[in-house]
Amino acid sequence: MILIKNGLIIENNRLVKKDILIEDNLIKQIEDVIDIDCEIIDASNSLVMPGAVDVHVHLREPGFVNKETIKTGTLSAAKGGITSIMSMPNLNPCPDSLQHLNVQLELIKKDACVNVYPFASVSVNEEDKIISDIDQVADSVYGLSDDGRGVNNLELLEEAMKKALKYNLTIASHAEDNFYKYDRLGEVVAVLREIELAKKIGCKYHFCHMSVKESFDAIRKAQQEGFTNITCEVSPHHLMLNENNIKNANFKMNPPLRLETDRLATIEALLDGTACMVASDHAPHTKEEKSLEYDKCPNGIIGLETMIPIIYTNFVKTNLISLDKFLDILVYNPIKVFDLPKRDLKAGYPADIAILDIESEHEYTIDEILSKGVNSPFIGNKYYGFTKYTIVNGKIVYRK
Ligand code: DOR
Ligand code: ZN
Repeated sequence: MILIKNGLIIENNRLVKKDILIEDNLIKQIEDVIDIDCEIIDASNSLVMPGAVDVHVHLREPGFVNKETIKTGTLSAAKGGITSIMSMPNLNPCPDSLQHLNVQLELIKKDACVNVYPFASVSVNEEDKIISDIDQVADSVYGLSDDGRGVNNLELLEEAMKKALKYNLTIASHAEDNFYKYDRLGEVVAVLREIELAKKIGCKYHFCHMSVKESFDAIRKAQQEGFTNITCEVSPHHLMLNENNIKNANFKMNPPLRLETDRLATIEALLDGTACMVASDHAPHTKEEKSLEYDKCPNGIIGLETMIPIIYTNFVKTNLISLDKFLDILVYNPIKVFDLPKRDLKAGYPADIAILDIESEHEYTIDEILSKGVNSPFIGNKYYGFTKYTIVNGKIVYRK
């Protein structure tokens, strides 16, 4: 048993002091005061929340273990207070069949210290030519994605949408048109045509890392028309940075940092609910890869360890986002959109808990990074809300 003493939990938009008792893998009891002789975590003046759910993580294993492994990636998640992640399928083998997916599922069983729900790919090897064996993998996944690349084969996409509808899977779209590529138009053109298709088929359709004002306008309009099946996420870097902030390869990702007007539109979308969640797009690369010339180095930045501190410091502490909404965008909405197993800070639920230091500022340094990648544009910045403890299924998986 573990007893979390004197922590502050979020109840009706307020911080309330409670004790939480964990027995085995479950939350056993939450009360004003619990006194039991067992292992005690002192959570005085700390925010105790259900662990965050990040639906956009590149774990790199199997296939690219020089960049990250399931072990290091999930440790990095734990450090960031994230207790469930969805892993992207740009892997080798690519999870386009049950056999290929099983390679990853076995590694997850062996090495993951947080809950990992893999995406299956939309197309075989994300090549946009042949549809993946969705019938086969449907029972083992919650979502489909070809993230890293846009699906431009619209016949194939429509086929995948029909399967997604049939099996209640959510498609997570890396919306990018292959002609316009990284240009703002590359995103907008893809978003517009995919919205039309998602309206027609009616499957759950989720746009990843939206970054352009016109994309948000289009998604907002579809939602206002009643298409609640259409959702989107935004990433901390598109909320915090624009193209003028680019200093080096640690500021290079896809979609890239955009105009200041796009950044403001990204914030607006999060505040007005057009974007119902934040996801990190954690994309580790090796130091060698990232030290290539800017134009030649790969896209991607790590983000698991800084997502909660960035959102807490810049949006919650500043009262732009309420405490309840903080939980919605980091925990409840991701679960809802992908229909993941329920998590909550209530008796009877799995004990997946993050305990955050909201009292003191901490500078994020390269030495503390638990990911194999150190490609973060946020190193050297100071934030509130770093994790003191993370608990997954009743076990302490991170302790500062
Ligand atoms: O920046 C990115 N990195 N964007 C992507 O779409 C892919 C990802 C990666 O896998 O490195
Ligand atoms: Zn992507």
